[in-house]
Amino acid sequence: MRKTIVAGNWKMNASKDSVDNLIKDLLTGMDGITSEVLVCAPFPYLAQVELLIQGSKVMLGAQNLNTNASGAYTGEVSADMIKDFGARHVIVGHSERRSLYGETSAMVAEKTKAALNAGLTPLLCIGESIEQRDSGNTEAVIEKQLSAVIELVGIEAFNQIIIAYEPVWAIGTGVTATPEQAQEAHLFIRSLLAKNDESVAQKTPILYGGSMNASNASELISCADIDGGLIGGAALKAEDFLQICKVG
Ligand code: PGA
Repeated sequence: MRKTIVAGNWKMNASKDSVDNLIKDLLTGMDGITSEVLVCAPFPYLAQVELLIQGSKVMLGAQNLNTNASGAYTGEVSADMIKDFGARHVIVGHSERRSLYGETSAMVAEKTKAALNAGLTPLLCIGESIEQRDSGNTEAVIEKQLSAVIELVGIEAFNQIIIAYEPVWAIGTGVTATPEQAQEAHLFIRSLLAKNDESVAQKTPILYGGSMNASNASELISCADIDGGLIGGAALKAEDFLQICKVG
């Protein structure tokens, strides 16, 4: 039985005050929540969140990393630095990084490897654009994105990886994939893993992301192959985020 995981992706939204309020409100509502709960904060706020969540069951993640351990990489942040602030997870391959910052599947695979080497759990995002879906290429796109990672890190590494299926057309648009569309994609992703190793496929958590909110989370997460959510907009409001966490 896979655990439900609910991860918040704050993207580039935070201030010291808003982080204080959001985490304090989250912590007061955590009683009885059985899902694993994780917030992925922008780099400057990792230290603040680390202190605020101490002793709670909320976990901390980052949103990106550099593949190098240290050195002359102005403006970049390494996996060890992220770990230094108590984070256990890091998002890799988010579609915003793929489309706005030119991250290729090969780069995403290297980032996944760097995270794993440092002992961080990568939250690997994959998903198709609307053009790719409309032209019938959803499965081909997903397969390419996932294979790049499997080829570099090996299937066994997926025991330490969380996958997030995020159709690009659903991210921040208010248009959520239907439970049927999402389940179909999740099942396809699991079948790709199963081609390499059936038991890894059964254990790997696959989260859905893309306009998941308090009203649609339950029908999505109740699908057989949807193991939780990666939440953007709705993760910025404690009440909405907690509502989603309660679904697990
Ligand atoms: P959204 O973002 O929930 O605002 O659609 C999800 C994501 O980008 O991870």
